[in-house]
Amino acid sequence: MEATNARLDAAAVGDLVLLDPLTEESLLQTLQERFRRSHIYTYIGNVVISVNPYRPLPIYTPEKVQEYRNCNFFAVTPHIYAIADDAYRSLRDRDRDQCILITGESGAGKTEASKLVMSYVAAVCSRGEEVDKVKEQLLQSNPVLEAFGNAKTVRNDNSSRFGKYMDVAFDFKGEPLGGVISNYLLEKSRIVQHVKGERNFHIFYQLLAGGSAQLLQQLKLRQDCWHYGYLNHESAGLPGVDDAANFRATQDAMRVIGFSPAEVTALLEVTAVVLKLGNVQLSSSHRASGMEACSVAEPQELQEICDLIGLDPGTLERALCSRTVKARDETVLTTLSVPQGYYGRDALAKNIYSRLFDWLVNRINTSIQVKPGKQRKVMGVLDIYGFEIFQDNGFEQFIINYCNEKLQQIFILMTLKEEQEEYVREGIRWTPVEFFDNSIICNLIENSKGGVLAMLDEECLRPGVVNEDTFLTKLNQLFAGHKHYESKETQNARRVMDASLPPRCFRIHHYAGKVTYNVTGFIEKNNDLLFRDLSQAMWAARHTLLRSLFPEGDPQKVSLKLPPTAGFQFKASVATLMKNLYSKNPNYIRCIKPNETKAAMRFTPELVLAQIRYLGLMENVRVRRVGYAFRQLYGPFLQRYKMLSPRTWPRWAGSERQGAEVLLAELAFPAEELAFGHTKIFIRSPRTLFDLERRRQERVAELATLIQKIFRGWRCRTRYQLMRKSQIIISAWFRGHMQKNKYERMKRSALVIQAYARGWQVRRAYRRYFRSEASARLGNFIYRRLVQKFLVGLGRNLPPLSVPDRTWPPAPYKFLADANQELRSIFYRWKCKKYREQLTPQRRALLRAKLCASELFKDKKTLYPKSLQEPFRGEYLGLTQNPKYQKLHAVAKDKLVMADTVRKVNRASGKTVPRLLLLTTEHLVLADPKAAQPKTVLSLSDIHSVSVTRFSDGFLALHLKETSTGGAKGDFLLVSDHLIELVTRLHQTLMDATAQALSLHIADQFSTRFQKGNVAVTVVESAKAGSDVPVCRKRGSHKMEVLVH
Ligand SMILES: Nc1ncnc2c1ncn2[C@@H]1O[C@H](COP(=O)(O)OP(=O)(O)OP(=O)(O)O)[C@@H](O)[C@H]1O
Ligand SMILES: [Mg+2]
Repeated sequence: MEATNARLDAAAVGDLVLLDPLTEESLLQTLQERFRRSHIYTYIGNVVISVNPYRPLPIYTPEKVQEYRNCNFFAVTPHIYAIADDAYRSLRDRDRDQCILITGESGAGKTEASKLVMSYVAAVCSRGEEVDKVKEQLLQSNPVLEAFGNAKTVRNDNSSRFGKYMDVAFDFKGEPLGGVISNYLLEKSRIVQHVKGERNFHIFYQLLAGGSAQLLQQLKLRQDCWHYGYLNHESAGLPGVDDAANFRATQDAMRVIGFSPAEVTALLEVTAVVLKLGNVQLSSSHRASGMEACSVAEPQELQEICDLIGLDPGTLERALCSRTVKARDETVLTTLSVPQGYYGRDALAKNIYSRLFDWLVNRINTSIQVKPGKQRKVMGVLDIYGFEIFQDNGFEQFIINYCNEKLQQIFILMTLKEEQEEYVREGIRWTPVEFFDNSIICNLIENSKGGVLAMLDEECLRPGVVNEDTFLTKLNQLFAGHKHYESKETQNARRVMDASLPPRCFRIHHYAGKVTYNVTGFIEKNNDLLFRDLSQAMWAARHTLLRSLFPEGDPQKVSLKLPPTAGFQFKASVATLMKNLYSKNPNYIRCIKPNETKAAMRFTPELVLAQIRYLGLMENVRVRRVGYAFRQLYGPFLQRYKMLSPRTWPRWAGSERQGAEVLLAELAFPAEELAFGHTKIFIRSPRTLFDLERRRQERVAELATLIQKIFRGWRCRTRYQLMRKSQIIISAWFRGHMQKNKYERMKRSALVIQAYARGWQVRRAYRRYFRSEASARLGNFIYRRLVQKFLVGLGRNLPPLSVPDRTWPPAPYKFLADANQELRSIFYRWKCKKYREQLTPQRRALLRAKLCASELFKDKKTLYPKSLQEPFRGEYLGLTQNPKYQKLHAVAKDKLVMADTVRKVNRASGKTVPRLLLLTTEHLVLADPKAAQPKTVLSLSDIHSVSVTRFSDGFLALHLKETSTGGAKGDFLLVSDHLIELVTRLHQTLMDATAQALSLHIADQFSTRFQKGNVAVTVVESAKAGSDVPVCRKRGSHKMEVLVH
């Protein structure tokens, strides 16, 4: 956006095509304004105009390189990087060879521009060890060639004194593979002579300033520039240039390129020889014949030269001072005059140096050459010496300007003429733009029949007296009426007074201005002859490099044929160069020099205007304005962009033109943007082209994605199918394997089970034969024997059957202890059962009574143990025997349970009286002993309870129920000798009669109920009591003490 704005800034438009109004002044002003703003680059379409700022600008940083990388040429501020990027991308992406033509005057910045282009391309192409090496070698060729081929001139401190065209080869990825450098006509005259204020080639100054003492000694040089005749004395050093540092840089660069140390030494040795040749002084001497001859005045320098190159000084001196002339079959040695000698010396120095320079270029080419077989595209960068107008212009300037004329012709042809012709050819509506076609000048110089160069060659080859005057006369005759040719004669003929045209000069109206050439030296320089004696002397040297520079010095190869002239060679190489350039897509950088003083940021309008004119910038803008930025044959165009429309993609069946029309109609560009020629499509503005290109890139990305997608899908599908097939095979095999394993396992298991079962069966069948059974059997047998023995023993020794006897033999073995215990209890119960069975009913009743007594009294009354021994007789009175008791017997009848004598305690006094007691199943009868008459008859149901003491007395209280009728006087207190039996029988009878247990209290205190009230009876243990009979004492009306023992 910023760039677009900058370009549309009316005062300083970035693209001169947008200039309004378009006049020379506005164009100049725009350039000036842009220059003032430090915008040194300006476009005319895709031509870059560069105005030399003569000061470093911060616009060549790595960030800038990134900014312009893959940029849209018209979307960024004008920059040399933009054109470099455009050319590089066209080469890489469109597969078109490119050439970058950098033109301009000397000092306009061509060499700098070419270096910027190279460094940009090196920065943007990919990296890698091999690629970086190639890049470095290509870049490092510059300092080496500049050291040997550049020199300070009045116009430029680093003026290229040779033409350089470098082809850089790239592979299809855009990686540099190598290159080839072609050099054109080194200005070798500079070796021996240069104008005041200029310098010889940099390398001499670098060597003297930067060479170590050891190196200089080895080369037999002195550090002092003043010492050397070929180095102009007054301008040895240059402000702002460090020759010593540059020498180191040159040496480093040579190392990077791949020069061996021996090669570097040899190179410097030859350079030293050139320098020293200038110091070989000749002096005149007179021969005996009277002829003037020359000889080396100071043999020291000659000796050193010969030491360096391994040559006999005599040989060199002979070659310098004499000449062998072959006339018919004779060989004559003629001596040379001193000027002739110096001429020979200088010619030798120039030849050595120029040949050394050629060798240098070839050597670099060997290092950077592309390996055969690699497919490549080429980018050519042309940096040739600029157009030159000096005070005194010689053969070199003529050649240099001819070359520039040819380059201008290319520019005109490609951008102006051819373009316009093409519009006409293609049938595009077109208003022709006037421009100056410099073919006429080129023709004037190079026409092989009547051109200046042809005339010069003719003069050089012509037998007879040959000099520049005859040459000039010829030119004057030939071009008398030529518009672009002038000389004193032609001007005179035209009756024009021109003081600026001295004699022996001719002037050519070049595209860039009129240049007056002095013909002096034309013939000699064109012939470029070196005396054969000198080349043979050089060939005779032992120095391998020097010797290789003079192959014609080999006496075996002596040829009488003259070598081609310098002009002829140059013309041929320029023709080759032109052919080469025509075959490539041109990119122009037109350098403009803003001032003559190399001053930073000074803009001299007149000087720039002159350049604008001769560079044809106005015409360029005009053609650009009405022309089309891009054209291409329908075929390649359709091929490139057909993917932008579904109708043309992937194949278009109709004609190519129709295809392009359909395609562009679909893309809906404005009609004025396009023109359809007979064979080509024309696109007016680069913007449209960029738009097209952008769409293509997007579409290509889409298509690539589509292809990737389909390919990936296909790959995944086939992979999946393969995997699936494999999986099925694997699983089939796996399942098979599993089943086989399972079957094997089952089979093994079945066999094991079978074996076990059979084994078990067999073992069972044969178990009895097994020893293991024997122990169990034995154990069992012994066990049984022991048990048997125990039981039999027991049977034999049974303890007595008496029930109280509880003895029992102990178990003989521990394991029989439980059984023995059990048997003991069984035996006891059996014994008891037997005992019970043999009891009589009476006895049984007695025992039951005893048992009952035990339940009632055991551990409760002290009397009880005594009663144990006494049998319960029941009938103590002898009722049946004693008739006295007949009545009582009748009362009792059959129901008598017990008859005894008891003592009844008087309730009032506590004294006792005897009484007879009868207990029947229904009654308790108390009778007077004397009368034997029942006194009291109590129904058993009247008895409430009985209380007895704890002691061994026979006292008992018979408590009656309140409702009883029998005992009107209340409870009875009785003393019985058979208390235990009495209470027991009473209890049993009561149980039998009423099914109720007798309520018996055994206590030390109890209450009785008498007729007169209740009496509390307290049992007192006392010694006063009789041994058996208790003593009752009444204490008050309601208390009675029973003293017991
Ligand atoms: N882009 C630039 N930025 C800064 N200085 C520059 C630039 N271009 C050129 N110069 C300055 O101008 C000087 C001359 O430039 P250069 O040597 O490229 O000219 P040239 O066109 O090659 O001349 P010649 O035809 O004599 O070889 C350089 O030494 C440098 O100081
Ligand atoms: Mg240059």
